[in-house]
Amino acid sequence: RPRVLSGIQPTADSFHLGNFLGAVRQWVEMQETHENFIFIADLHAITVHPAPAELRRRTRVSAAQLFAAGIDPERSTLFVQSHIREHSELAWILICQTGMGEAARMTQFKDKSAKYGESSAGVGLFTYPILQAADILIYQADQVPVGADQKQHIELTRDLAQRFNSRYGETFTVPAPYILKEVERIADLQDPLAKMSKSSSSPQGILDVLEEPGPLRKKIMRAVTDTGSEVVADEENKPGVTNLLRIQSVLTGTSIADLEKRYAGQGYGTFKKDVAEVVVDAFAPIRERTEKLLADEAELDRLLAVGARRASAIARQTMEAVRERVGFLPQL
Ligand code: TYM
Repeated sequence: RPRVLSGIQPTADSFHLGNFLGAVRQWVEMQETHENFIFIADLHAITVHPAPAELRRRTRVSAAQLFAAGIDPERSTLFVQSHIREHSELAWILICQTGMGEAARMTQFKDKSAKYGESSAGVGLFTYPILQAADILIYQADQVPVGADQKQHIELTRDLAQRFNSRYGETFTVPAPYILKEVERIADLQDPLAKMSKSSSSPQGILDVLEEPGPLRKKIMRAVTDTGSEVVADEENKPGVTNLLRIQSVLTGTSIADLEKRYAGQGYGTFKKDVAEVVVDAFAPIRERTEKLLADEAELDRLLAVGARRASAIARQTMEAVRERVGFLPQL
């Protein structure tokens, strides 16, 4: 079975529809055919200094949501990144393989550092993609299912794997991104040219998985649509309608062409009402299961400990080889 590795940051109290369609759904599906390693990226989250109690809470909420969305602890290894010390250790070794220019080219770093001002942006944000490369390479992953915004980080990961392999000898599997075109970039409901994002979208533009049906419906009914009244996909002239069509299409398994036929001559109102029901139906069971899982913290922590044990066995093995290749003296 090919091995899959992916992660998500615990940076909000809920995942949003972009995370869910762009990544989490693929993780659940790939459990059938792949060997899955999924983790909560708490090491990445501290680049922006969340309050400790908040980070702890969000890490548990994230894990509960993933189990609730269908990650099966029997078939997938779900764990918390900071539980596996080898991620940090490999990150340092990969930092030593990375050029300044190469790291400075990462567009996510450029966007984030622009917000803080170039010289006050943290070094953690700068090295963030290299830690991500360590996450992937330490498990010898074949495929990395992500949204389009992570593509550049996977390319860096491939470059670092190839460089390490040629400098020190074959050590790492060179991973491939796994990105589904239809869902690679779910848009903000209020600004359909921007991606839906915890950090940059307004609350009105984001659909949270743990949100109640009322606000979900309201946000979808108020989503920015485009001039005209026809429900047709047209990326250039109707980005808002196109985004909603994609959402309905993937959640119902109906082609966009069939949806266009269904809503011919009906205007935006009926269409949006249907999209809202589809989203509410997809989220409600996840919300209910998440609440149940959070009610038993000890059991949730136990499941994460099981995941950590499985992940640790592989991470340790890779690190042993890496230490030897680099020339570190074995510890007796
Ligand atoms: P994060 O936490 O920002 O997002 C988790 C996943 O959701 C995807 N995503 C989207 N997909 C489609 N449309 C959107 N609007 C949208 N918004 C987010 C992201 O592409 C991602 O797949 N750096 C990563 C976490 C990470 C990671 C890793 C991922 C750390 N180490 C190793 C893969 C492998 C991140 O911040 O994702």
